[in-house]
Amino acid sequence: MEGAALTRRGLLVGIGAVGGAGAMYAAMGALGLAPTAQDKEFTPPRQSDFTLRGGKAAASVVILGAGVAGLTAAYELGKAGYDCTLLEARERAGGRNLTLRGGDRLTEARGPAQDVRFGEGVYFNAGPGRIAPWMVTLDYCRELGIPIETFVNNNAAAYVHTNGETVRARTARADMYGYVAELLAKATHLGALDRVITKNDQETLLDFLRRFGDLGPRLRYEGSERRGFTEWPGTGGGAPIPAPGTLHQVLAAGTGRAITNDFGYDQATPMFQPVGGMDAIVKKLTEAVGADRIRTGAKVTKVTALADGVEVAYTGGTLKADYCIAALPPHVMARIPHNLGADVTAALRTPVPVAAGKIGLEYGTRWWELEDRIYGGVTETDLDITHIWYPSHDYHAERGLLVGYYNSEKNAELYGALTPEDRRRRALTQGKKIHGEKYRQNLLSSVSIAWQRQEHIEGGWVRWPSVDSSFTLLQRTDGRVYFAGDWLTHLIAWQAGAMESARDVVTRLHQRVLQSP
Ligand code: ALA
Repeated sequence: MEGAALTRRGLLVGIGAVGGAGAMYAAMGALGLAPTAQDKEFTPPRQSDFTLRGGKAAASVVILGAGVAGLTAAYELGKAGYDCTLLEARERAGGRNLTLRGGDRLTEARGPAQDVRFGEGVYFNAGPGRIAPWMVTLDYCRELGIPIETFVNNNAAAYVHTNGETVRARTARADMYGYVAELLAKATHLGALDRVITKNDQETLLDFLRRFGDLGPRLRYEGSERRGFTEWPGTGGGAPIPAPGTLHQVLAAGTGRAITNDFGYDQATPMFQPVGGMDAIVKKLTEAVGADRIRTGAKVTKVTALADGVEVAYTGGTLKADYCIAALPPHVMARIPHNLGADVTAALRTPVPVAAGKIGLEYGTRWWELEDRIYGGVTETDLDITHIWYPSHDYHAERGLLVGYYNSEKNAELYGALTPEDRRRRALTQGKKIHGEKYRQNLLSSVSIAWQRQEHIEGGWVRWPSVDSSFTLLQRTDGRVYFAGDWLTHLIAWQAGAMESARDVVTRLHQRVLQSP
C-alpha cells in the first residue's frame, strides 16, 4: 500500500502544482487518499555517537549531486564528522534551487544562453519559490539563520482568467460560493437531505450556508460586497460591483476550476520564502558543509560498488569512499554505468521526468501594485501560461519582477521548445489578455527556464506512472550506494522532499556505520 499511495500521489503532483488543488483533491478523493502524516522525528548524527564505540570513526561518503538533497545529506553527516565529498556536474551547487540575478548566465541544452540583466536587488526564483509552514525546509531556514518572509499564495485581488474573461479572484469566489450555498440551501428546503441529516443539523447547515455564500434573506444569492467594488468605501459607501450573472453564466464562465489552488495542504496560506532569494538555502548549506567539499563541473561517469566501499569515476578523477549517496535525478543516474544490478537501472528508469517552466519578467514600474492593487499572489488562468506570480517582497520598489508563466507538462514542453525570445513574446501576448497593453510596456528584461532542458537535471520533477516496487527498492537499498531526492518521497517537487529523503538516508547510513563490526 505504501508504494501504491506514493505512486498515486506522485501522479497528482503535476496537477496540484499547476492545475489547482481542486483538481488534485477531486483526484485524491477518488483514490481514497488522505494527506501524509508528518515524518518521524530526526536526530542528527553527532560526534559523540562514536566515542562510546571504541575506535569507531565516521566514514567517508561521496555524494553525487549538490542539489538540496545532496547538500542536506552532507550537512547532517558533517555534524558527526563524516568526510563528505560532493560531485556536482553543473557549474554551481543547488540543483533546481536556482535564483537568477543580474550578471548571471543561464545556459540550456540545445539552446542559446541567456544573460540575466536584472537591476540591483531584482531576483527570479527559477525553481522552488514557496514553502509551507509545516515543511522541514523552514526548520533548516531557522537552523541556518536564513530570514524568511510571507509568500502570498492567495490574493483576492489577483485575477482569474477563464474562457476569455478576466475577473478578480474575490469576485469569482463570491459567485461560486454564493451559488453553491444557494443550491445546497434549496436542496435542503426541498427535503433532499431529510433522509441524510436531522432537521436540527439542517438548521445548522443553513446557518453556515448563509455565511458561506453571503446569501440574502430568502437564502438566495443576489450578489455580495465580497465581489468587490468599482469604487471602494471611504467617506461614502462606495460602489459595489453590480450583481452577478445567473448561475448558468457563472458556471459557464469556468472560474470554478481556478479558485481552489490554495485549498491543498501543501498550498494553504500562509506560505513563506527566504528574504532575498530561495538560494539563501544553498548558500548557507554550502557554507556549513564547506565549499571546498563540493567539486563543480564534476560529471560522474561510473559508479562501482566494491566489497569495502564505492569507487566513483568522474571527469577529473576517481574517488573512493566507504559509502555513496546518489542524490541526482533518477533518469540521469540511470544512464551512468554502474554495477548495482539491472533491477536498479530498471527502477531508476521508472519515474518519468516532467517538463516545467517559468519566465521572469522585469518591469520598470510595479504597475500591478500601483494600478491593479495586487500585492503578491497568483493569477490563475486556463491559458498556456497557467499562472502569473506577483512578487511577495520589495513592495513599492521602483522596479519588480513577476513570473509571467509557471507551467508544466504539455504547456511547459510547448514553451520549452521555443527560443527565449519567442517564449517572452508568447508570454506577453497571453498576459496582455489579462492585464491589457501595460503588460507589454516598461518591460526591462526577461529570463525563461525550461527545466527539461537544464543540463544534468532534465526535468522540473518526476511522476511515478504506475504502482510498482521501484520506489521501495531505491528508497530501501542495502548496498553501499544510497539514493536520495524529492523523487523518493511523498513530497515530490518540494525541497522538503529532498531534505526528508536526505535525513532518512543519513539516519540509515549512520546506524549502519555504528553497527558495523
Ligand atoms: N512545489 C511546487 C509548487 O509549489 C510544485 O508549485
